[in-house]
Amino acid sequence: MKITVVGTGYVGLVTGTCLAETGNEVVCVDIDAAKVARMQAGEVPIYEPHLDVIFERNISAGRLTFTTSLQDGLDHGEIIFLALPTPEDEDGSADLSYVLGVAQEIGKYITSYKVIVDKSTVPVGTAEKVRETIAQHTSQAFDVVSNPEFLREGFAVDDFLKPERIVVGSSSERATALMEKLYKPFVRSGNPIIIMDEKSAELTKYASNSFLAAKITFMNEVANYCELVGADVDMVRRGMGTDSRIGKRFLFPGIGYGGSCFPKDVKALQKSGRDSGYDFKMLDAVIDINNDQKVKLIPKIEKYFNGDLSGKTIALWGLAFKPETDDIREAPSLYMIEALLKKGAKIVAFDPEAMDNVKAKYQDKISFASDMYGATDGADALVISTEWSIFRTPNFKKLSDNLKNKIIFDGRNLYDVNDMVNEGFRYISIGRREA
Ligand code: UDX
Repeated sequence: MKITVVGTGYVGLVTGTCLAETGNEVVCVDIDAAKVARMQAGEVPIYEPHLDVIFERNISAGRLTFTTSLQDGLDHGEIIFLALPTPEDEDGSADLSYVLGVAQEIGKYITSYKVIVDKSTVPVGTAEKVRETIAQHTSQAFDVVSNPEFLREGFAVDDFLKPERIVVGSSSERATALMEKLYKPFVRSGNPIIIMDEKSAELTKYASNSFLAAKITFMNEVANYCELVGADVDMVRRGMGTDSRIGKRFLFPGIGYGGSCFPKDVKALQKSGRDSGYDFKMLDAVIDINNDQKVKLIPKIEKYFNGDLSGKTIALWGLAFKPETDDIREAPSLYMIEALLKKGAKIVAFDPEAMDNVKAKYQDKISFASDMYGATDGADALVISTEWSIFRTPNFKKLSDNLKNKIIFDGRNLYDVNDMVNEGFRYISIGRREA
């Protein structure tokens, strides 16, 4: 099939590349000429495991091409994916100016039937707005469908190629048939393509992400309570997770959720609820608790140093909001860096992928080490903010030689408390006894 993807951010790029992988002819459109030139030369502009291999393969096969011309893109595809940014407005709502701007252009340029697919995470009612905007500029037949993505950073290729479900919001049989044809190769396993109305599809995305954010937040509260009463959140988590109604996943407490989706989507659902006269009280709590959780370790670090962090050097392992990504949007590490700097501490950080992004933000306010042990050399304490695999089994002998004090503050519960006692470390984590 002939497909066009408008916007080559994280979602657009993964969508375009993976759709080319099943034999479709995909044209990706972006206004950033420099980025388009890099992609034409075979360079993947983001870090996402496994994307490079299929990106190169499909470019070489001529199934994946790039252009800055929206008009060329619109001429090519029968299905036009909109994977445009929907940044958070000052009031927490999603800014639709990119999506509606392109909708206007679509109305001006299309000369044959098209299915316009909202892939971006957009508030309930956006498909309708896109439809109205296009219709103002054309009498050409077209349909608008909502097809939210459920891609996890770090696993996006796998999530796209083997989805647990595909949600399509469509009220046109013609558009539904085309979407089913496009996605059939991805659900050979028997996983469903769920067809519904556009509004329900739009809400499915916000509700899913907000539910997951709430699930994590609930466990963070349980962890905080465990600390007060001397229970072990690891045990509570295992005890709860084996109930299939609860499930084992997304029950890991830590220093809060971050990233480009959860924080933005929870706020956008809260805001669009308010705009429609509904108050999502639970989401207010989720947002508040998560903000506190991100700096949960700070008072513990301060207490260890008797309230005085000035001049103390903190080794910080992990900057990305989660492993397998260089994304630092809403990362707990940034909130910790701000708080630690304010208290006069010095920071030496290490992250396998995200250091360049943090360097651009903090320039010379913090230092960076070229490997994980380098960060700990002469530091007063180690703080862990992201659960990268390489941090899971460190050489504790080397760590204790490097650190001035044998103390680890772990925001991701990487180690067994008893093991740390045996290694001779003071170890302070989340929702478990201090050692
Ligand atoms: C998320 C959704 O999972 C995906 O379906 C959606 O479309 C985009 O947003 P992503 O932001 O890439 O994906 O990350 P995810 O793996 O879901 O983690 C989100 C945050 O929750 C991270 O900050 C992570 O550290 C945190 N988290 C996750 C926990 O604190 N505990 C958990 O048990 C799971």
